[in-house]
Amino acid sequence: MTATAVVDAQCGDTGKGKIIDYLIPILCIKFNCRTGGGENAGHTVVVEDEVIKFHLYPSGAMYPDVLNIIAPGVVVNPERLIKEIDSLEKGKHKINLLVSDNADVVFSWHKALDGAQEIRRGAKLIGTTKMGIGPAYMDTAGRTCTITMGELIDPDIFREKLDIVYPLKELELKAYGIGMQETKEEILQKASEWRARLKNYVGDTVYKINELIRKGENVLFEGAQGTLLDVRFGTRPYVTSSHPIAGGVCVGAGVSPKLIDSIIGVSKAYLTRVGEGPFPTELGSYEEIKNETQPEKEEEIEKVAKELLIRINNGKASDLEIGRYLRLKGGEYGTTTGRPRRTGYVDIPMVKYSHLINDFDKLAITKLDILSGLKEVKICTAYIIDGKETERFRPNSRELGKAEPVYETFDGWPEMTSKDWVPYVESGTLPYEAELYVDRIEELVDVPVLLASVGQERHQTVFLNH
Ligand code: IMP
Repeated sequence: MTATAVVDAQCGDTGKGKIIDYLIPILCIKFNCRTGGGENAGHTVVVEDEVIKFHLYPSGAMYPDVLNIIAPGVVVNPERLIKEIDSLEKGKHKINLLVSDNADVVFSWHKALDGAQEIRRGAKLIGTTKMGIGPAYMDTAGRTCTITMGELIDPDIFREKLDIVYPLKELELKAYGIGMQETKEEILQKASEWRARLKNYVGDTVYKINELIRKGENVLFEGAQGTLLDVRFGTRPYVTSSHPIAGGVCVGAGVSPKLIDSIIGVSKAYLTRVGEGPFPTELGSYEEIKNETQPEKEEEIEKVAKELLIRINNGKASDLEIGRYLRLKGGEYGTTTGRPRRTGYVDIPMVKYSHLINDFDKLAITKLDILSGLKEVKICTAYIIDGKETERFRPNSRELGKAEPVYETFDGWPEMTSKDWVPYVESGTLPYEAELYVDRIEELVDVPVLLASVGQERHQTVFLNH
């Protein structure tokens, strides 16, 4: 029996979707359970010519014999889930899904509140995805205003609950000077459509998962977002409202920590962050890139990236340009919002802090291919804060705002096409300089590296098995 948790060691967007899709056959997984967050998450899975972007549907979607479970810890926007089911069905994928009847539903008022609260925060905004996640989890904690998936699929209970919740939410929105987005009748109508589409997928997941694990089945727990976005242990207030850490898997799914056998941390070979929040190794600044958009054409991206690479390797590029290069080459634009992701060098004190909180058994390093072609690459090993050097990351946004990174610099490895990676994928090795780079991360974090991802597709993965 193995229960494996896959969680993000950074600020989200490390490519957990691809890693889970890759690991499912390797770990003989038949049950994949998403444990937290909502449609604020974005996972991209690429298999052959097909690119599927999910927000809610778990990442085992490409395997017809894998049951994908949405645990109670997830907040579910039924509209989004139905859209994802539709697009999977269109692509002739089997829907093998179980949604917890104890998961809370995200409604239009949550989104409206999310937007209104962000406006109210003014310059101190969080930079949320505006998907209603914070307000939905606030209702979970507040107890009175939640409506679960189980309640949604029972028309009488739903009507009863709506009678309680609607006026309270109306009142709350009024404080922000806005009204409800929909009338009660419109919500009831929508709910009946959602019910018709989703009722067959809704059921108990807690007994199911616990029985599966105790029966010896292999279960994978899919974390969403990243450790540094944890509502308690992340860089508050620039965090999401759930627990993306390994402990959050237990809270989200309703399993004992004793039942999780292995925890895999996923970290990019560099670092990105979307939205506001501290970022000591950032290349450039959020202010400068906020309005940047992703060039539409592939050729345009390649052309600009090529020009930037020449400047970088000639030592002529500014930090902002290096950051832009990583953004363009890595396709670092939000899956959910399209926002440009802030980019920077890998931050070891941060990943070590993540390891402290999660106790990783293995690390998966993603997007290693994006660094190829750079003459040199850097790793942040410590910070200088108020004149003092420290290797300790504390998720204190004020303190981190002052942190100056201390870097180790490494020789880069040659520019490589996907074909150039094939022998490395086949032999489970890396180009010499890339190996040194990964080995140093492994040594500093003190966690063995299981694999390095060198492309979006499932097969573009080097299984190192350290
Ligand atoms: P929220 O989760 O929409 O409330 O957003 C709170 C913060 O978490 C913002 O900085 C978002 O950009 C960030 N965030 C939420 N979900 C993700 C994700 O899946 N990847 C990266 N950042 C995320």
